[in-house]
Amino acid sequence: MTEPMRTKITLDESELPTQWYNLLADLPTPPPPVLHPGTLQPIGPDDLAPLFPMALIGQEVTGDQFVDIPGAVLDVYRLWRPSPLYRAHRLEKALDTPARIYYKYEGVSPAGSHKPNTAVPQAYYNAQAGIRRLTTETGAGQWGTALAFACAQFGLDCEVWQVRASYDQKPYRKIMIETFGGVVHPSPSDLTEAGRKILAEHPDSTGSLGIAISEAVEVAAQNADTNYSLGSVLNHVLLHQTVIGEEALLQLAKVGETPDLIVGCTGGGSNFAGLMFPFLREKLAGRQSPVIRAVEPAACPSLTRGVYAYDFGDTVGMTPLIKMHTLGHDFVPDPIHAGGLRYHGMSPLISHLYEQQLMEAVAKQQRECFAAGVQFARTEGIVPAPEPTHALAAAIEEALRCKESGEAKVILTALCGHGHLDLPAYDAYLSGQMEDRALDDAAITEAMEHLPPVPVA
Ligand SMILES: Cc1ncc(COP(=O)(O)O)c(C=O)c1O
Repeated sequence: MTEPMRTKITLDESELPTQWYNLLADLPTPPPPVLHPGTLQPIGPDDLAPLFPMALIGQEVTGDQFVDIPGAVLDVYRLWRPSPLYRAHRLEKALDTPARIYYKYEGVSPAGSHKPNTAVPQAYYNAQAGIRRLTTETGAGQWGTALAFACAQFGLDCEVWQVRASYDQKPYRKIMIETFGGVVHPSPSDLTEAGRKILAEHPDSTGSLGIAISEAVEVAAQNADTNYSLGSVLNHVLLHQTVIGEEALLQLAKVGETPDLIVGCTGGGSNFAGLMFPFLREKLAGRQSPVIRAVEPAACPSLTRGVYAYDFGDTVGMTPLIKMHTLGHDFVPDPIHAGGLRYHGMSPLISHLYEQQLMEAVAKQQRECFAAGVQFARTEGIVPAPEPTHALAAAIEEALRCKESGEAKVILTALCGHGHLDLPAYDAYLSGQMEDRALDDAAITEAMEHLPPVPVA
């Protein structure tokens, strides 16, 4: 009898990693500092204290290679972690490729994506610091759901500004956030100065992550019992997500594989970083040699068409200045269906790696991505969230290249969420109503004109 095909590679709860991995400790050169917008000097912990608890500020800058995951966080992680790693046998067969495709599935979490990996520790550290309420933005609705869930675990209130395009496309996300006890506002809203300013200029604004961040930051900054929580971009968020890659390393080792290619979608960069940072550590140490490839939407191509410059993290200009790949803080992308990828910037750590040529990036139009999502659903049985269809499109592209070349590459991808609440997007694709629109240079150039004037060091 032949061995049955191994499909799921699982870990026991006792194998759940107990530390997050901090890539900053192993980088050949550190990324540039975050600057105060007034003084243009590097910011210190006190500048961030109105928004974040000291534990998270410490994690933002720590040089420790590993950070212990608190026991109370591990207890919540055990609701869904360790998450499964799958071998995509059926997709490989449909593609007739010699490549071996593995996907790390984060859709098993309470929110349906990777986002609770950081929402839970963020709520935990804020509760420890005596904070009563967290505010945040959400694009896909996944992050707002994750934070509402995490706040419910630690007895915090949660207030979410949901990007207008997503609020209208995804009513069920709002209901899920409310079910977890959160409060949801469409953004731009008339509840904040930032929202009113945008609405005065653009009454029909579809919103953007940058605008929603301005609103949530404003409310947190004005209330002592309230902090702000960010679902991507910052170092501590990427740190928390490394639990994904640490598990994947163990899982691939169980089947004796090392990846030739790691591919993931990037909005602010957190799911991709979470999967690939532990593998990059292995690469920097000379133990593995994967190619690392980010996939972004052609409608919001911060890595492939943006500039590497200091910019605000939000639209209105309330955050510190971050050196990152950016399309300009007031760039408003087309309302594509992958709402979580509509961010004007990119995590400073991912931007730095891209500059250092430690990773590469490609951009894809949404119809190619949804075609990949549908093929994946029909073969593997999981309807992916619109965001990771970008990663799947690139994984399929590589697997078809392998078919041509005959190479049996090992491809590892981040299936960072399911699309059960994104079905209208699939409906638009299946009924032929989804459009691909070219992004002209003029829209990018115009937003670049508003970059803050920071002298080049
Ligand atoms: C399912 C899903 N994937 C990806 C992203 C993009 O964020 P990041 O690049 O931080 O993983 C989001 C963001 O909302 C998301 O909800």
